[in-house]
Formats: sequence, structure tokens, C-alpha cells
Amino acid sequence: MEKFLIEGGYRLDGVVKSSGAKNAALPIIAASIMGEDRTILHNIPVLKDVDTMLKILTFLGAKVNFSNNTLEIDPSGIKKFTAPYEYVSTMRGSICLLGPLLAKYGKARFSMPGGCVIGPRPIDLHLKGLKKLGVEITNEEGYIVGKVRKLKGSKIFLGGNFGSSVLATANVMCAATLAEGETIIEFAACEPEIVDLARFLKKMGAKIYGEGSHIVRVIGVKKLKGVEYTIIPDRIDTGTYILAVLITKGKIKVENCIPFHLMALMDKLEEAGIYIRHGEDYIEVEGADKWKAVDIVTLPYPGFPTDLQAQMMVFLTLADGISVITEKVFPERFIHVGELNRLGANITLDGSKAIVKGVKNLFGARVMASDLRASAALVLGGLAAEGETHISRIYHLDRGYEKFEEKLSKVGARIKRVKE
Ligand code: EPU
Repeated sequence: MEKFLIEGGYRLDGVVKSSGAKNAALPIIAASIMGEDRTILHNIPVLKDVDTMLKILTFLGAKVNFSNNTLEIDPSGIKKFTAPYEYVSTMRGSICLLGPLLAKYGKARFSMPGGCVIGPRPIDLHLKGLKKLGVEITNEEGYIVGKVRKLKGSKIFLGGNFGSSVLATANVMCAATLAEGETIIEFAACEPEIVDLARFLKKMGAKIYGEGSHIVRVIGVKKLKGVEYTIIPDRIDTGTYILAVLITKGKIKVENCIPFHLMALMDKLEEAGIYIRHGEDYIEVEGADKWKAVDIVTLPYPGFPTDLQAQMMVFLTLADGISVITEKVFPERFIHVGELNRLGANITLDGSKAIVKGVKNLFGARVMASDLRASAALVLGGLAAEGETHISRIYHLDRGYEKFEEKLSKVGARIKRVKE
């Protein structure tokens, strides 16, 4: 196993380019199997999660060719319809293949995704939406088995106890594109990654209206074609670099990003007293010597993203005063708190709230990564801490950050990947 060794306390300064969005890439790769011919995707990040998705596609019988962030997918050889446990258990995002498989082939057998360190991850909304389109669903030996002769358009309310669901919207929207007649999805997710998926599907020939709002209308078509498409930049990648640099009181320009997708973060940073400048495709920030505590509530887009909660928490550990972070998307997503406290943070938990009391300094320590964004937060903590931080189990980071230590080193971080 590998770990990171970080020598903290250095000010970061420079320019970083955002990678392609993991959470747009995964459902778009999955949707490409609905095309009659080959699809070419650009700006696909080189990540473990993308690799896992490609392993599943190859297992099903598709041909894939991935180099220089460009991915070619030829789905014509798909002959299997099972997503096995060994892949689904390492990446819950693979569930977004369910809708496309059912739409194109009328059958799918999917290992039931198990528990997850960020809290319970039910899939009731995915199944409810697909059932409404006519899919018959059974549970056989830990596998969800879906079958349908012809999908039929329907009116579907897709809201759950925690609001909308990103991948349930992706699944139902994909399936509806090849269904007979009209589908209305109410309480659809509005995330930029869903809008990107809708744009991709429209290029393939789908008829989708209202993407980016809570009501999406899909008129089914008979066939979709393979296309060439470039996916959007990763807003969470962008936000993570911005926070990494601010924590070290440094300066950064993040290029190749969409600032409009990060309004919630920029708004909170401005409230904390940070000066931000942005153009159409870049964001520049300059760290302050001191910043104010602010309260954060994570919410579905356009609210503050849960995927930046852990990284923002590190920033707030060094703020002046007390911040309250309320997690409304995954109320148990606080596994990083204990490890951040090992670095000298002062954070207490009260249900789905974290109370962060600002401290003057963090100190290097041995910590353990637990999930993707929690791992990023520990790296940020290590960059700000005095002394050396060892972070083990960094394979979590490789799931979702492309060239993480390379990009951080480029702006002056002292971070090394070493064998345990
Ligand atoms: N939920 C249900 N029932 C469902 C589905 C979801 O109750 O059938 C609940 C979840 O338990 C959660 C809330 O709805 O409380 C929102 O979950 P959502 O379904 O939107 O999450 P997801 O689609 O499984 C995607 C991202 C996550 C990101 C969330 C929220 C991908 C591959 N994953 O997951 O990304 O946190 O949306 O924005 O797109 C990450 O990148 O680190 C990550 C975890």
C-alpha cells in the first residue's frame, strides 16, 4: 500500500488546470452504451473510478480504448448484462449503468451496492423510477434483476427524504430517452453533471427538455447514435485546489473551470473575507492572513456541495471563531472529523452538525484516509500543519483526483507518495 508524506507549512502559489468531471464522466460513459455505434469522449479524467467503469463495460462485451484523456467506446459487442459484485462494491457510481442497460437491452443484473462510509446509500428512488417506466424488478441472491419488454413513458416524482438524487435522475432520464412516449421527472436533480449528461444524450438524438431544473421532460425516440463529446470540468476538483491554497495563505489561478458551478463556495469564501476574481473559465484567489468563521449547510445543487464539505471544514478549522457545518445530503458524512482532530483541529459532532472551533495552528500527525473527499481533506490538513503528516490508505484519493500530488507539487506543496 502507498501513503502520502506531507511536509506542511509552505505557502502554495501558482496555476492549476481543472480535470474533467468524474461525476459527469461516469454516467456519460454508461449512457454511451445506448448508442448504435462508437462514441468518442474527450476530457475524461484518468481515475480509478473511470478504470472500474471501463472494466465493467469490457466485461459486458464493449470495446474501449482510453488514451490522453480521450475515450472511445464501441458498445456493439455487448452480450452480457450483469455488473458483478467485485466492481460494484468498489464503486457505487456504477449503478448509473442500470438505466442504460435496461433501455437498450431490456435486461440488467446488478449486484446490490452495499454500505458506504459516507452513510446509508439506498437505491429506492432508482428502482421506483425504473418501475414507473415498466421495469419488473426482483432481488435474487444479492443481485437486483431488472427486465422490461418495452419501456413506457410515465410521470415520476423522484424526491426522497434528502431531496433529489443525482444518479437516480441519471438512470431514469437515460431509460426515458428510449421509452415509448413522454416521461416527466419531477424533483429531478439539477446538478451540472446531470445537465452535461442531458446535453450528451441530446447530441445522441434524445429529446430532453428542462434539464437543470427540477422538472425534466423526455420524449422517447427509437434509437440513439454514437457521438463525439467533451465533458465539463470538475467543480469539486477546482474547489479542492482553491481551498488547499487558501489554507496555506497562498495564491492560485485555477484554469479550465466553470466558476458559475461554484457560486455556493465562492459566496461562502467571500463571507469569510477572501478576495476572489473570476472570468468565464478561471478563478483566482488570494489567501488572507486571517479569515472569519462561517456557517455551511450542504444541499443539492445549487447549494453548497457535500463533496466539498470535508475540504471546507479544514479551511474553517483555521478560521477566527466558531463555524457550524450542517450536512443535509449525507447526514453521517463526518468520518474525517476524528482524523482532523488528530491534526489539532477542534471539531465536535452533534448529529448531522459539526461545530468547528477555529484554532491557531494544525500539527503534523499520522492519519488514515477513509473515503475520497475525506482523504482530500486530510491532505489539505497536512499542507497547513506544522511538521510532517503521514496519510495512509490513499487509494481512496486515486478514485477521484487526477494527478493530485503532481498538481499540488506544481504549486509548491511538499508531498510525496511512498510505500508503507
Ligand atoms: N437517496 C435515497 N434514495 C435513493 C438515492 C439516494 O434516499 O434511491 C439519498 C441518499 O442517501 C442521499 C441523497 O439521497 O442522502 C442524495 O444522494 P444521491 O443519490 O444524489 O447521490 P448519488 O447520486 O449516489 C452522486 C455523486 C456523489 C455525490 C452525490 C450528491 C456520482 C458518481 N456520485 O451520488 O459523489 O456526493 O451525488 O451530490 O455522481 C463523490 O464524488 O465523492 C461522491 C460521493
